[in-house]
Amino acid sequence: MNKDANAFRRGEFPTDAPIEALRTDHRFVKELFERYFATRDEGEKKETGRHVLLLLEMHTSLEEGVFYPRVRDADPRLVDHCEEEHEEARQLIDRLKPMDESDPQAEQLFRQLADMIMLHVEEEETTLFPKVEQAGLDLSAIGMEMQALQMRMIADRMQKPVAPGLRQ
Ligand SMILES: [Fe+2]
Ligand SMILES: [Fe+2]
Repeated sequence: MNKDANAFRRGEFPTDAPIEALRTDHRFVKELFERYFATRDEGEKKETGRHVLLLLEMHTSLEEGVFYPRVRDADPRLVDHCEEEHEEARQLIDRLKPMDESDPQAEQLFRQLADMIMLHVEEEETTLFPKVEQAGLDLSAIGMEMQALQMRMIADRMQKPVAPGLRQ
């Protein structure tokens, strides 16, 4: 298994509890950001920075590809707002991908991205997820679709020795 796919091996995806899977991603993203900012080791900073970008891309794809459309009716305006925040984050991610993660300018952009993502995560966890949990949706069907998409994304990455826009 190549390193990109390995970055996503963070435990079994609980198909019957997709919200828990998203929360687990959120915790992992937070941990990776903390490790990125704490380390003085250039290699570790590079590796951790790359992992957090990959995980964020995968997580936002899962939410935009399956979760958001399936839960949209619970609060369409809130879901629109979440999608706009993803778009802002994506613009930062696209700027960061070709940069050297240990570059001081990259660290500044990582800080902006981390602040933006933590606010977004807070909003999902305290506002969107509770609404979804109360909406009486078939969460297990949503979880199965998310798992299928996740497996396709991992398989896709494993076929490529280097993910587009990323350096080894
Ligand atoms: Fe999100
Ligand atoms: Fe999320």
